[in-house]
Amino acid sequence: MKLTVFNGSPRGKKSNTAILLEHFLKGFMETEGNSYELEYIVNNKDVGELVEMFKDANNVILAFPLYTGCMSGIVKSFVESLKPLYGKQDNPSVGFMVQGGFPEAYQSRFVERYLEKLAKRLNCQYLGCIVKGGIEGIQGKPQFMTQKFFYYFYELGKVYGKSGKFDEEMLKNLAKPEHLSVLGRLFYKFARLTGMANIHWNKQLKENKAFEKRFDRPFT
Ligand SMILES: Cc1cc2nc3c(=O)[nH]c(=O)nc-3n(C[C@H](O)[C@H](O)[C@H](O)COP(=O)(O)O)c2cc1C
Repeated sequence: MKLTVFNGSPRGKKSNTAILLEHFLKGFMETEGNSYELEYIVNNKDVGELVEMFKDANNVILAFPLYTGCMSGIVKSFVESLKPLYGKQDNPSVGFMVQGGFPEAYQSRFVERYLEKLAKRLNCQYLGCIVKGGIEGIQGKPQFMTQKFFYYFYELGKVYGKSGKFDEEMLKNLAKPEHLSVLGRLFYKFARLTGMANIHWNKQLKENKAFEKRFDRPFT
């Protein structure tokens, strides 16, 4: 099986998306004869080249982080550039991977519905959408906190590599929690009220010299 993978994170090779894909692709490569091509959307100035890659592919996985409940500009631009391929007969099968910073999978269900519709418009076989929340910060987490869901990504890739399909049961288990428990909601309320929830993001803003600009409203 030949697979074309698009990583839609603006962080490119240093992204969380790249880490999750690494595990998925490790599983995918367990089946003899499988091969893949991996492209970083952020590296492409000419979106036309990406459209050509999509057009020539047999099977596609588009993986990206959730940005404000949906997708980043680079992914949106890519998706919109696929319009000339709508309804064509020989479009590839397509599956998606959406991961976000907040823990609830529910947040990604809206973009998931959009992606299913997109696959239909493109006349692609829709394989489903891998959804996982709580991913921001994984790069600094100890192994015991990440190994379980990394294993899920590996297993999902393995099953996909063999069957060309996503395992529905695994998708459901990986996505948990769909909603936060009452205790979880209380914890996040506490973290928000004490400013704890901002520590990680403020650090990132400072590292990118954007902290002073965090309340800017450039479009108003
Ligand atoms: C501008 C911006 C908007 C974001 N919006 C959301 C969001 O709406 N929901 C969410 O769960 N995470 C959101 N996140 C968090 C990212 O989805 C999360 O950090 C993800 O793991 C980043 O993946 P990457 O390293 O592959 O880019 C946002 C992050 C940024 C920078």
